[in-house]
Amino acid sequence: MAGFLDHKVKFVLFCQYSHFGMSVCYGWIIVFAALVSVTCGQREGPTTESEEPWTGRWMPHPPDIESTSKKPEDLHDPKHGVKMGVIAKNCDDAKTNLTLDWDMSPYYYTCYSPLDKFVPNFRLKPILECENIPKHYVAHHECMNNTVEYDRPIPTLLYSFFGAKQMLNLLKIFWHLWCFKGCGTHRPLWPRYGEYKYVPRQRWLHNLEHGAVVMLYHPCVNPFEVKMLKKLVTSCLRRHIITPIPLLDPQRPLALVTWGCRLTMSAVDPKIVATFIKNHALRGPEKYAKDGQYDLGLEVPAEIVSDFDDSELCPKR
Ligand SMILES: *[C@@H]1O[C@H](CO)[C@@H](O)[C@H](O)[C@H]1NC(C)=O
Ligand SMILES: *[C@@H]1O[C@H](CO)[C@@H](O)[C@H](O)[C@H]1NC(C)=O
Repeated sequence: MAGFLDHKVKFVLFCQYSHFGMSVCYGWIIVFAALVSVTCGQREGPTTESEEPWTGRWMPHPPDIESTSKKPEDLHDPKHGVKMGVIAKNCDDAKTNLTLDWDMSPYYYTCYSPLDKFVPNFRLKPILECENIPKHYVAHHECMNNTVEYDRPIPTLLYSFFGAKQMLNLLKIFWHLWCFKGCGTHRPLWPRYGEYKYVPRQRWLHNLEHGAVVMLYHPCVNPFEVKMLKKLVTSCLRRHIITPIPLLDPQRPLALVTWGCRLTMSAVDPKIVATFIKNHALRGPEKYAKDGQYDLGLEVPAEIVSDFDDSELCPKR
């Protein structure tokens, strides 16, 4: 896939210097992209949603699980593949097979070189990146019998090397096909809001879809900066998730993420943080304030800031 993306970059450069005119050139890219997305789609395999109801025996299970156990056909959701928020033993109950997403290794929250924690650089400007996620894009839900992997440290973002705006709408459709399994796929149950020892990406992506702000920090960030950013986030809205993640760039080891947007920082600037939250929080495609069910590693549950719906972001006190 990475090799293929390189080809696309070359194509775009080629268009700028070719004498065919941009539209002819982009036309060829579209044909090429269509062929690739069809072949890739086949390689990934369609999600085989078995239409036949299960007629075999069910494994015996304790009676108290009976009420939360759903047959696969009850879980089917035409939008996401699997319904969200339904606790189901055979798909996701926020308890079973959690090691699929986090092997419980301390690697994810430990700074292994505590003596050289990253020094905040106030001259390094924060970077705001937003992507125009197609309105019709619906992230896929994946049960806990399957791994979910991402091809970049902070998922949900569209690659942004397509310059020509007029082609964007067509490209969005192809992006939807490419991204079907890789971009925003996440688990059906989302984390309860608050501060965690560690939450895997497969979980917090779901909160973004509901409009949350996720604060990420590298385990080796200067603790003072982490404390300051935590304080700002927790006083802006209830719908927040805070977790370390060792994948961030040491240059900008602090990040705020919302649906389609991210702000990466070397040092915390309270004004920039508040502006980002006011402009981008609660913009997910699903307006849903309810708390989640996943709470592995939850350390500080979120508290209400303005009200349950976060009607006022970053209220002045
Ligand atoms: C995972 O479980 C779901 C729901 O029970 C089922 O529809 C799906 O086919 C399973 N996938 C695999 C790879 O076993
Ligand atoms: C847990 O993982 C095993 C092995 O991958 C799988 O067979 C099983 O269906 C999974 N359980 C759930 C609830 O997805």
